Amino acid sequence: MRRWVAAVLAVMTASLWDGPPGRAAGLSHQLNIRPIIGILAQENLPGDPFAYGSSYIAASYVKYVEGAGARVVPIRINCTEEEYAKIFNSINGLLLPGGDVDLQTSQFSRAARIFYNLALRANEAGDYFPIWGTCQGFQQLSVLTANKNLLTLTDTKAVALPLTLTTAAQSSRLFGSFPKDLLQSLADENITSNFHSWSLSMQNFSRNARLRRFYKVLSTNSDGKKQFISTMEAHRYPFYAVQWHPEKSPFEWIEKSGMVHTINSVRASFYTASFFVSEAMKNHHCFSSPAEEDRALIYNFSPIYRGIKAVFVQNYYFD
Ligand SMILES: *[C@@H]1O[C@H](CO)[C@@H](O)[C@H](O)[C@H]1NC(C)=O
Ligand SMILES: *[C@@H]1O[C@H](CO)[C@@H](O)[C@H](O)[C@H]1NC(C)=O
Ligand SMILES: *[C@@H]1O[C@H](CO)[C@@H](O)[C@H](O)[C@H]1NC(C)=O
Repeated sequence: MRRWVAAVLAVMTASLWDGPPGRAAGLSHQLNIRPIIGILAQENLPGDPFAYGSSYIAASYVKYVEGAGARVVPIRINCTEEEYAKIFNSINGLLLPGGDVDLQTSQFSRAARIFYNLALRANEAGDYFPIWGTCQGFQQLSVLTANKNLLTLTDTKAVALPLTLTTAAQSSRLFGSFPKDLLQSLADENITSNFHSWSLSMQNFSRNARLRRFYKVLSTNSDGKKQFISTMEAHRYPFYAVQWHPEKSPFEWIEKSGMVHTINSVRASFYTASFFVSEAMKNHHCFSSPAEEDRALIYNFSPIYRGIKAVFVQNYYFD
């Protein structure tokens, strides 16, 4: 019950805030050591022989978050805005996973937009709420911020790359929390898995004032022709986006080029997740009761084993 008491006190003291999110003194600055991350589901892949219901979450994203000390609440894609607002006020961060849906017309994109706008408003009001986007999640964030799709096709379908870190990387919140030797490995070794056809090119990023003002580029990559952004974080919001797949190294096992399972790739996976979870610990949203929290957690669902040759070895499916 402690958590609910602390959260109520945090809300009471929130009105005394005058600093930027997360900087305020007092109770609301205490870390929430029982964070819950919402992971957004998306429309089932066409022809998925294991699918039932209408949406899924790849279990690797759930394990990724759990392995860094958070619990997971799945977020379905057909909820009303009121239902999403209620979920938003119950969770401590949002993860937008990889996948293959339309970034402007899918139910996934609709839900992502609702949460993105809620998170903008919350952070502006001193209620620290982090968002993490991976691959499609990265792309979705770029579409939401630019309010249009500026992505371009690249030859990056199945390749492991070293990150070309920018000068801003060292002092960034995300990479600043990494051990120095790991950051060096990320720069030197081909340990980031890329499985995307679309990318945000440096050219389009630089030409778009909204994107430029919103995000700091932490790393880039190239397919040999186009330079694209592989990692970025928002200047003024706890929003983070990776075009690569940190969750695959420890948790996906399809034998395919671009897949990496080295010790440093798994360390990089853990440090990204741990960073995101540490951000979620600065948020004090909570469910209205333990029973409601219980009903929302991913433990109420079982992942389906899809075979060792599947892109996602296990998926959760939802009605
Ligand atoms: C979402 O789908 C589930 C299962 O089909 C259904 O029970 C629920 O009422 C739907 N919610 C909305 C808002 O359509
Ligand atoms: C820039 O964005 C447009 C979409 O607005 C896209 O068609 C084009 O390929 C992009 N160019 C580059 C170099 O990224
Ligand atoms: C390693 O990354 C470089 C780009 O820095 C790329 O040219 C090369 O193909 C990659 N090698 C492998 C085995 O993926």
